[in-house]
Amino acid sequence: MILLGPGPVYVPEEIRKEQTKEMITHRSPEFSELYRNIVERLKTYLNSKESYILTGSGTMGLETLILNIAKPEEKMICLTNGVFGDKLSKTAKIYTNAEVHSLDAGKGWNLERAKKIIDESNAQVLGMVYNETGYGVRNHAKEIIKYAKEKGMFTILDCISAWPGTPLDMKEFGLDGFVTGSQKGPSCPPGLALLGLSDEAVQRINSRDRIPSFYCDLREHKKRYEKDGQTPFTPAISLMWALKKSFDLIDSEGMENVRKRHKELSEYVRKRVVGAGFELIAEPEFESYTVTAFKSNGNAKELRKRLKEEFGIVIVGCKGAYAENGLRISNMGHVTKEMLDNCLDALEKIKE
Ligand SMILES: Cc1ncc(COP(=O)(O)O)c(C=O)c1O
Repeated sequence: MILLGPGPVYVPEEIRKEQTKEMITHRSPEFSELYRNIVERLKTYLNSKESYILTGSGTMGLETLILNIAKPEEKMICLTNGVFGDKLSKTAKIYTNAEVHSLDAGKGWNLERAKKIIDESNAQVLGMVYNETGYGVRNHAKEIIKYAKEKGMFTILDCISAWPGTPLDMKEFGLDGFVTGSQKGPSCPPGLALLGLSDEAVQRINSRDRIPSFYCDLREHKKRYEKDGQTPFTPAISLMWALKKSFDLIDSEGMENVRKRHKELSEYVRKRVVGAGFELIAEPEFESYTVTAFKSNGNAKELRKRLKEEFGIVIVGCKGAYAENGLRISNMGHVTKEMLDNCLDALEKIKE
């Protein structure tokens, strides 16, 4: 079976195998070595002040950022253009006062569209999704985050389906809170949330009297990490072995090459999808580097079924406004051109 959904993504065998290592206790020097290894490497990739790897899905990671960074009495601008931005907004509403601004399906956020909102708001925090997975839209996050940061806001970016295939440097962006999930770009099985924090975010979190969570209180994670390189609660150790291997693969390829490969493969998929007569959902200039979303000819479910049954290829539908009619092909992680060609060749054959 060829898995081309936008997460969980295809997991290469060398990453999968790491999970079968003999179990160790998380209160051991071996675990400290493993956890320190992946945390310190993540910090370097992100250019963050601190990083943590929590056991739980990406949503938990995003919730962790929001509840640690945004205070209940504050206001948070939430820029949404799809289901994942909506989920970010819903989460923000639980922990702070969310001011939600939406764009239609397929449209992307850039500074031109966000500037007035930022200028006119007295919010302390801004949150948005880098890559709106549901519609394959890459928001121009850098210019928005940078601007909001210059205006004195704390900034949170859901990079769950963006990283590492889309450029990101926390310092350059002015980003205070980063999150991705192990089952996306890192190409591991689901179950880990990878977090990055800026210096300002760390200071704010440390100075808070009360953080409304026990498991997700990053002060607990910091305390334990600084004590002995461990986690306050029992982590998914097997997944951490897998993540270490995933980082080895990133290092051997080089981050710049990882990004170049994603950009080029996404361009290739779009070219072939359009060549086959389909219409892209993302507006021009906002196309995702990791997932291509397009409109079917009213036969999305049938195409997915036939791809799976006749060709052994799994792709997924879209979300929200295109839940019925949209299709998505992901090139996230270690998906190869050959896998994509198999899918695109098959799609051309059965598209009517
Ligand atoms: C942009 C984005 N945010 C959040 C999520 C939710 O992540 P998880 O399912 O790991 O909780 C996803 C998953 O597809 C996503 O693509």
